[in-house]
Amino acid sequence: MDRSDIERAVASHYGRGGLTDNILKSLGLQDAAPGSVPIEALFPVDQLHHGGVGLTEKMAAASGVRAGVKVLDAGSGIGGSARFLAGRFDCDIDAMDLSEDYVQTANDLDMLVGLSEKISHRAGSVLDLPYEGGSFDVVWCQNVTMNVADKKTMFSEAFRVLRSGGVYVLTHIGRKSDGAIDYPLPWAITEATSFVTSPSDFTQALSDAGFTDVRDHAKDAPPPPPASKGEPDDSVAMGADMSLRRDNMRRSVAAGRLVPMLVTAVKP
Ligand SMILES: C[S@@+](CC[C@H](N)C(=O)[O-])C[C@H]1O[C@@H](n2cnc3c(N)ncnc32)[C@H](O)[C@@H]1O
Repeated sequence: MDRSDIERAVASHYGRGGLTDNILKSLGLQDAAPGSVPIEALFPVDQLHHGGVGLTEKMAAASGVRAGVKVLDAGSGIGGSARFLAGRFDCDIDAMDLSEDYVQTANDLDMLVGLSEKISHRAGSVLDLPYEGGSFDVVWCQNVTMNVADKKTMFSEAFRVLRSGGVYVLTHIGRKSDGAIDYPLPWAITEATSFVTSPSDFTQALSDAGFTDVRDHAKDAPPPPPASKGEPDDSVAMGADMSLRRDNMRRSVAAGRLVPMLVTAVKP
């Protein structure tokens, strides 16, 4: 598949109509007024990655995010991490994602928590960032790289839009050893849209793009815990078969075939 085939397939894997209504229904927030909902109320459904908001907190600590920092959330899903960063740290966020449905839902949810002024969402690809060079202090990329074949272009785009001294922070699921991986997985139904680079190739590609101080804080990115039954979770946004997809991932992590990574890299 070429780039546009992959991006079309990935966008349709994630996108789904009626998402805002379904999320609000799952949380009993159908009648909530704009600006009346705390960001925390959305965490059960808006963190579309293993490790939930705990992983987002660890990424924030590893990246050194703080008040006033300008962040690009590259592959922002329905905006869960962007709202976390804007709400907790008062950062200004640009966010972009391939899925138009997700961008629409992210805007709706920002309004609900009163953060529309702090976050600007748009649709687009991490392979072609529509921003000036040196625009950001932090580029944030949470569980996106598994859907991107051309990491060379992706990493050089992140390098370009970071200022000197800026930090690229990523979570990735790495391919640790050979052996069959069961699909479907949270990010892909088949291996046609799954690009789980090995940890060493992943960090080497960051160095090749010009980053220094490339570090994998893997111990801070544990695999997902079993889902608690009947609670709202990311399956509202990710699809009804998420418990099977999460179980497949957990099994491959336990067998040592996949490994969750949390990587920071600095633009010199
Ligand atoms: C597993 S979700 C993670 C979303 C979000 N980062 C989070 O953690 O809540 C992966 C996201 O990456 C986006 N994505 C995948 N490939 C992309 C690309 N080439 N450009 C922009 N977004 C992409 C998908 O549309 C999807 O929203």
